[in-house]
Amino acid sequence: MRMVDLIAKKRDGETLTKNEIDFMIASYTKEEIPDYQMSAMAMTLYFQGMTTEERVDLTMAMVESGDQVDLSDIEGIKVDKHSTGGVGDTTTLILAPLVASVGVPVAKMSGRGLGHTGGTIDKLESIKGFQVELTAEKFNKLVNEQKVAVVGQSGNLTPADKKLYGLRDVTATVNSIPLIASSIMSKKIASGADAIVLDVKTGSGAFMKNLDDAKELAKAMVDIGNGAGRETIAVISDMNQPLGYAVGNALEIKEAMETLRGNGPEDLYELCLTLGSQMVYLAKQASSIEEARQKLEDAIHSGKAIEKFKTFVASQGGDTSVVDEPDKLPQAKYVVDIRATQSGIVNEIIADEIGIAASMLGAGRLTKESEIDLAVGVVLEKKIGDQVSEGETLVKVYSNQEEITEVEEKIIQAYTINPEKTTNNKLIYDIIQ
Ligand code: URA
Ligand code: CA
Repeated sequence: MRMVDLIAKKRDGETLTKNEIDFMIASYTKEEIPDYQMSAMAMTLYFQGMTTEERVDLTMAMVESGDQVDLSDIEGIKVDKHSTGGVGDTTTLILAPLVASVGVPVAKMSGRGLGHTGGTIDKLESIKGFQVELTAEKFNKLVNEQKVAVVGQSGNLTPADKKLYGLRDVTATVNSIPLIASSIMSKKIASGADAIVLDVKTGSGAFMKNLDDAKELAKAMVDIGNGAGRETIAVISDMNQPLGYAVGNALEIKEAMETLRGNGPEDLYELCLTLGSQMVYLAKQASSIEEARQKLEDAIHSGKAIEKFKTFVASQGGDTSVVDEPDKLPQAKYVVDIRATQSGIVNEIIADEIGIAASMLGAGRLTKESEIDLAVGVVLEKKIGDQVSEGETLVKVYSNQEEITEVEEKIIQAYTINPEKTTNNKLIYDIIQ
């Protein structure tokens, strides 16, 4: 087989076979196909698109390009959740103990990554002593015994995706639905998931800015998952403003604990119940979505959910006293109120700008080597639709630097306040299965 023939075949609008896709991905991973041929292929795929079968074959070829996590020692249906990313997305910290508390095994691998705040793994490290590195045996044992464990990514998962994503980044081919969908799904499947719940974000703070694109990406990922034998459901949710109130590492741990007690922000609570119900249902721990939701609400209101969080922290070596005394989490030196400069209704909070403000305080990494400040970040006191008076606090800034003029400017710019309500934001737009 020759790569040049595969490029020509796809260029002319034909369909690649599983054999051809396997050859292409395996050879590219081994560096037997050069970047310039793969670049031409990526651009061809960008313009010609891919059939569902081609997408499934590409995904599985990337899964098989490296290690695959074996969760077969863990009893039950392992359901993973994946978010396409947004600002202040605290859902994993809530969902892991929440669905575990009703009997769903959560074997979560999570990243650090670059972003406005750290990843789930960084956030958990705000808890003194919390161990994010576990051996496979210990990890499996914890999930069997406690139903939940979260570890940092290890091993050589989907090296083909890593290479191809890097190449797409510099050849203007990132923005292709089949390539994005295969990339994300290959990582989920290689992580060992039996079933997958996707949270596809749409809005100004999301990768997919408009609803139609988000729906198309969601449908593409659901079709790949189901085509690869992993039952998959996608929820399309709003990212036109940060999720919840807190954006920061320790601040989000605190927010997660409040939500697990039923005292969290309304949007974060509702999204967690929506995603969680789908997870419980796919794990066959409920016979309907309604029953699944009821179980989760009961777990929150009976205290089972926060108890599970405590057990989870304890079993990974963390200091459980933070659960009842959140002030023992890392604390910032300065807390500054950013106040409204006019009265009216909040109609817009540009999520990205709030994220950048948090990252300017040190909550996120700019490069892989950067150190994160776990204590800092922002907590929104006003969200879209809220009434504010001039001088009222919009946002509390938690900072370890006294001088925050630039951060303050970012936050003020992110908010649009008008005399009347002009937006009708929804939290959940659609569920695709
Ligand atoms: N995120 C991914 O993991 N892959 C893509 O291709 C785009 C976004
Ligand atoms: Ca949040």
